[in-house]
Amino acid sequence: MQTWSSSSWRACPISQQPTYPDLKALKEAEATLKSYPPLVFAKEMRSLKNALREAAFGRAFLLQGGDCAESFSSFSADGIRDLFKVLLQMSVVLAFGGGCPVIKVGRVAGQFAKPRSADFEEVNGEKVPIYRGDMVNGLDSKERTPNPQRLLQAYHQSAATLNLLRAFAKGGLADLAEVHRWNLDFVKNNPLGQQYSTLAMQITHALKFMQACGVANLPALQETDFYTSHEALLLNYEEPLVRQDSLSGEWFACSAHMLWIGERTKDLDQAHVEFLRGVHNPIGVKIGPKTTLEQMLGLCDALNPQNEPGRLSFIVRMGASMLKENFPPLLKGMLQAQKNVVWVCDPMHGNTIKTADGVKTRSFTHILQEVLDFFKIHKDLNSCVGGIHLEMTGQNVTECVGGAVREDNLSQHYYTQCDPRLNATQALELAFLLAKQLKERVVH
Ligand code: PEP
Ligand code: CO
Repeated sequence: MQTWSSSSWRACPISQQPTYPDLKALKEAEATLKSYPPLVFAKEMRSLKNALREAAFGRAFLLQGGDCAESFSSFSADGIRDLFKVLLQMSVVLAFGGGCPVIKVGRVAGQFAKPRSADFEEVNGEKVPIYRGDMVNGLDSKERTPNPQRLLQAYHQSAATLNLLRAFAKGGLADLAEVHRWNLDFVKNNPLGQQYSTLAMQITHALKFMQACGVANLPALQETDFYTSHEALLLNYEEPLVRQDSLSGEWFACSAHMLWIGERTKDLDQAHVEFLRGVHNPIGVKIGPKTTLEQMLGLCDALNPQNEPGRLSFIVRMGASMLKENFPPLLKGMLQAQKNVVWVCDPMHGNTIKTADGVKTRSFTHILQEVLDFFKIHKDLNSCVGGIHLEMTGQNVTECVGGAVREDNLSQHYYTQCDPRLNATQALELAFLLAKQLKERVVH
């Protein structure tokens, strides 16, 4: 294997990249990014990796969620706050109901680049480049030329988002005494909101009891750790943000705490595997229904040669109809080879369907089915489920069918830039179901 550098990926074949017409402007934008401060720090990435090590053995649970694609136009403090609140709510349900520490990781502050199945599409009879995420080009068909200035805008939006998330996590909003305030207005009056209020009440009583015993004011009760993640797809953005830790000499991708490789870019000889093998962040790889055991073992060797638990998560996204058939032999092979990975269930990406009207959606029933099957397969093989990966929002959207959202009212609040997301009510319902599964999970 050749020696790694932050630019060694450039010598490898690469897919899913935009074609920039102005290469000089691209170089300038990359140089500007390189001169900017890192967004995250080595110590934080190490603490996430340590937390994920526990998830590899079933002793903690990764809750990873956020937009399919963040957008420049819907950037707002309320949007960030509401995502943060739902993730906190879910984590309380999981920790209290499932008795398991929860690692909170947003698909946020950098999730701006999308892999696509075609390079071009036709809009009003005209052939235009496909939309590849706000970091690359615009959703509007007139803004489809890849523009390197967008790399800088993505960086600035990520910095502002992280700033707010850090304030929420350490500055009071994550205080367990605030547990009632995390219920969003539109969830409050439905049965799930009420189920959550009951749980919040129990927590409040427990806190009062602890106070009476003189063990209140512990930092762990008043603040939380919140991490960021995105798909490391656009390496022109990732490379300039790589930094060397001055203490250890190790390299880190400083655009987010955790990065993952998507289903379409995980070939062993390709650029994305080359790039991520050299950085010390915790990383993930999406595992689709056609993935082979040989490929998975190859990914472990390339990305986690020391077999370090917590370094590598496999985010399995096969779809409810394929998982039961395709996943057990792979899991068996991985267990036999004694590979340490965090097993994460993404019940979203294998369950995308189109309605008769051509609207992209996902059925909550399929999502739940895939989650339940994932837990069952692991239990049968005495393996640990390490986490869940979701496309979700704190906004009251109608994008996935199920609960109060029927196929004929999908258009009411359908705002996603890309794939359909769970709304806060659906996400909360899923959390209650997950908590039940966690109670009976395998722990090593
Ligand atoms: C995604 O996570 O938005 C995505 C595109 O996933 P996958 O690579 O699994 O298709
Ligand atoms: Co998606």
